Amino acid sequence: MIEKFDSIKGFLDFNEGIALYEEVMRVTKNNFCVEIGSYCGKSTCFIGQACKENRSKLITIDHHEGSEEQQLGELYFDAEVYDEELGRVNTLPFLEKNLAKFNLENVVKPLVMDSISASKIVENNADLIFIDGSHTFKSAESDYELWKNKIRKGGTLAIHDIYDSEDEGGQAPNKIFKQSLNEGFTLINRVKSLVLLQKSN
Ligand SMILES: C[S@@+](CC[C@H](N)C(=O)[O-])C[C@H]1O[C@@H](n2cnc3c(N)ncnc32)[C@H](O)[C@@H]1O
Repeated sequence: MIEKFDSIKGFLDFNEGIALYEEVMRVTKNNFCVEIGSYCGKSTCFIGQACKENRSKLITIDHHEGSEEQQLGELYFDAEVYDEELGRVNTLPFLEKNLAKFNLENVVKPLVMDSISASKIVENNADLIFIDGSHTFKSAESDYELWKNKIRKGGTLAIHDIYDSEDEGGQAPNKIFKQSLNEGFTLINRVKSLVLLQKSN
């Protein structure tokens, strides 16, 4: 199983994936989860696998054109996900292949659009929302504001790439993490750069 997950391109540590999987197993109630930032489907497959076992669904959102740091010439550019014909990053074929590999096509619904557009059509009362999209301050703040009220009471907000200092990594996810602690979310688990927070109201 570890090897199977390791074969997916992505930005999630295996132990973070297991923590997400276990949290989805705990919190889902025949309902649905949302992910912002599918990329090639690494976190998607961990969350999706738990949804499958719990008879839940996962909506995963990504425009599939890559984040700022994944563009040509940037730090996390990967030539394998660059489509020469389109002249841009395109991770959708990788996501689709990985969903098929894990037999998750009937569990995971990809929404190929930006987070703002998706927030207008996805309904409220999600069991868990995982924020792992663009890490600019503007985008992270927008994702938090648009999606925090779509989590049901007692549900979970998960945020990736939390670093205590700028030396370790960008501070936008950390900013919304701190804001959530002041707005009715309680930290229930932290694994590497992943935080899991419970919504109390
Ligand atoms: C850090 S990657 C996600 C990593 C993934 N969760 C994993 O486990 O490997 C961020 C993704 O967010 C997507 N993204 C960036 N800005 C977005 C936006 N405004 N709306 C939707 N997706 C966005 C990018 O295309 C990219 O695939």
